[in-house]
Amino acid sequence: MRDGCIRWDPIRGREVSPRQSLSPYRERELRSLSVYLHMRIAEYLSKDLPYKLSPDNVFVTNASSNLEVRHFDLLPERGWEADLEAVEAIADENTVALVIVNPGNPCGNVCSYQHLEKVAKTAKKLGIMVISDEVFSHLIFGSKPFVPMGVFGSTVPVLTLGSLSKRWLVPGWRLGWFVVNDPTGILKETKVFDSIKGCLHAFSDPSTFVQGAIPYILQKTEEDFFRDIISVLKQNSKVCYNKINEMQCITYPHKSEGSPYAMLN
Ligand SMILES: Cc1ncc(COP(=O)(O)O)c(C=O)c1O
Repeated sequence: MRDGCIRWDPIRGREVSPRQSLSPYRERELRSLSVYLHMRIAEYLSKDLPYKLSPDNVFVTNASSNLEVRHFDLLPERGWEADLEAVEAIADENTVALVIVNPGNPCGNVCSYQHLEKVAKTAKKLGIMVISDEVFSHLIFGSKPFVPMGVFGSTVPVLTLGSLSKRWLVPGWRLGWFVVNDPTGILKETKVFDSIKGCLHAFSDPSTFVQGAIPYILQKTEEDFFRDIISVLKQNSKVCYNKINEMQCITYPHKSEGSPYAMLN
C-alpha cells in the first residue's frame, strides 16, 4: 500500500485516510481494549437480567442517526405510561421499532414491570422490536424499582441504549452503548443483527482514553457515589413538588420518580 491511499480499517469497520490509519501494533492494542470494554459493559448490564449478554451484543457509540419518527402520547393520569393503543393505531408494515425512555425524560416517570410487559406484548403483536433508552437507569427515588426492558428479551428483541453521561455525571465524555437483548436469536436469524453491525460506520468511535477507563468505572464505582446523587435528586424533586403545588397557575400531574425531570401543566 502506497502512502496517501485510502485503506480499510478493521477496527473502525470502514475506510480511513492515511492520517486516520493505525500501525499494526496500535491496531492489536485497540482491538484488545475494545474486546475488554465490550466484556465489561455486557457483564455490567447482565447483572439486572435473567440471562447473560455476550460482548458481541454490545456496540459502543457517540452519535445518533435519521429515521421517520411517529409520535404517541404518554398518559399523565396513568403515571406517564405509553398509550399503547395509540402505538397500535400508528404502526404499519414499515414500522420497525417502538421506542420508550425509562426512566423518562421529560416526565420523570419510571415504568413498572407490568407496563413494560405490556410494551413487550404490544411490540410482539406488531412484529417489531423495542428500543429502550435507559440512559437514566438506576437514577430513581420513588417507590418503583428500575426494571430493564431487556428482562422481556425472550418475548421481543430489545435494543437497550445506555450512557456514561447520566449515572456517572460525565456528559462531556461522549460514550454510550447500545446492546442487543435477543436471547431467542430472532435478530440474528432475520439478519437484523448484521444490518446493525453494517450501520456501525455511521458512528464515530468514542475517545480511546474514555474507552480505556470504562472497565474500571463500571467495576469500581463505590455505592456511596450513586447514593449521593440519588439523595440530591430526591431532595430537589421534593422541593420542586412542594413549591409547584403552592402555585395556582401550574399543576404537577404525576410526581417524578426518577431522572432529573418533572413534567408540569
Ligand atoms: C433520554 C435521553 N437519552 C439519551 C440522551 C443522550 O445522552 P448522552 O449525553 O450520553 O449523549 C439524553 C441526554 O440528555 C437523554 O435525556
